[in-house]
Amino acid sequence: MKGIVILGATGSIGVNTLDVISRYQNDYRVVALSAHRQVDRLYQQCLRFKPEYAVMSDAASAEQLKAKLSHDAVDIEVLAGSEALETIASLEQVDIVMAAIVGAAGLKSTLAAARHGKRVLLANKEALVMSGQLFMDEVKKNNAELLPIDSEHNAIFQSMPEHYESLQQAGIAKILLTGSGGPFRQRSLSELSGVTPDQACAHPNWSMGRKISVDSATMMNKGLELIEACWLFDTDPDHIQIVVHPQSIIHSMVQYIDGSVLAQLGQPDMRTPIAHALAWPERIDSGVEMLDFFNMQQLEFEKPDYQRFPCLRLAEEAIRTGGTAPAILNAANEVAVASFLDEELAFTDIPLVIEETLHQRQSRAATTLDDIIADDMAARETAEQIIKSRV
Ligand SMILES: NC(=O)c1ccc[n+]([C@@H]2O[C@H](COP(=O)([O-])OP(=O)(O)OC[C@H]3O[C@@H](n4cnc5c(N)ncnc54)[C@H](OP(=O)(O)O)[C@@H]3O)[C@@H](O)[C@H]2O)c1
Repeated sequence: MKGIVILGATGSIGVNTLDVISRYQNDYRVVALSAHRQVDRLYQQCLRFKPEYAVMSDAASAEQLKAKLSHDAVDIEVLAGSEALETIASLEQVDIVMAAIVGAAGLKSTLAAARHGKRVLLANKEALVMSGQLFMDEVKKNNAELLPIDSEHNAIFQSMPEHYESLQQAGIAKILLTGSGGPFRQRSLSELSGVTPDQACAHPNWSMGRKISVDSATMMNKGLELIEACWLFDTDPDHIQIVVHPQSIIHSMVQYIDGSVLAQLGQPDMRTPIAHALAWPERIDSGVEMLDFFNMQQLEFEKPDYQRFPCLRLAEEAIRTGGTAPAILNAANEVAVASFLDEELAFTDIPLVIEETLHQRQSRAATTLDDIIADDMAARETAEQIIKSRV
């Protein structure tokens, strides 16, 4: 029986993870679940999966959950606050931590899982984007296992040799990082300025949380994934080619120096990478429908459009700059996306806010977690001021 903690259990990845686990109740035991404010959803999950701990990072929500569970005489310890996320990610009886909190809020708990040598299933890409080297060092130092949940990185991982050390050692020429291009792939720049949050969140292939959906629409998601791939596979943007593939059937590819290209294909359903990472190196049924090649639509490939999607350029520049630049980029993006979702900022102003924040905030070496968090917070303030001056 493997003990598992799901950080961000009430989100899209969290729910998909519980769906996979529910098929293997003799193999996985849910030790702890976390949410931020969705009390009812976490309450239902608690009743069904009976974890030892439930964490609500929002204190008032934790009180509500506690009251509901004690009313039903359910014996689950409810913890409150963001420090409790680190506590559950570090518990001795935990083997696997699904890091599925959205944004910088997941950084410390994801790091805690790495520091305690867990198998870390990394969905929370923002944590790695922010802390890059520091995070990878903790994984190595503490013999943690880092398995990517992002379907693209999971596909790359599956297309690589088992004992991967570096692109050169593995005979890899390039990583081909695919992306659907999001809901606005074919919209002109002039049409983009008036798009609404609901339009931006209507992804053609994937059903996801609202923040990552907007990131997909601006293609910042692909930019964050470029940075994530640099850290996960110890490489640089010169060895990663973004390939727009609107059907989301090929989840990414690896091009070898002998001309071979290995790819991972599957339905656009996150339960596949989740099941892969949970059971690796074994395979388990994820509940996902099999691909039917005789009824598949045509597979298309395009070059990314850096003019319509400036977030791609900003992310590439940030990883080339290094230090805390990716953390500044990520913080400005989180603030700009939240403001767009609140209908305060225009869609096309998201990259402008990020670029101006990067211009105003100096990056520095990302040596300690405190430095990274300080630059993240300063970038948030700057981005908020920039937004205020625009609206
Ligand atoms: N969805 C996908 O298909 C997909 C694919 C690849 C990678 N990812 C990555 O996976 C992560 C999660 O994405 P998602 O789509 O599952 O997001 P989501 O549906 O918005 O869920 C986010 C989860 O994080 C919790 N949360 C939100 N703010 C928090 C805070 N301040 N402190 C602690 N917990 C907080 C939420 O709790 P409440 O429900 O209580 O608010 C929820 O459980 C993101 O980093 C995303 O980039 C997602």
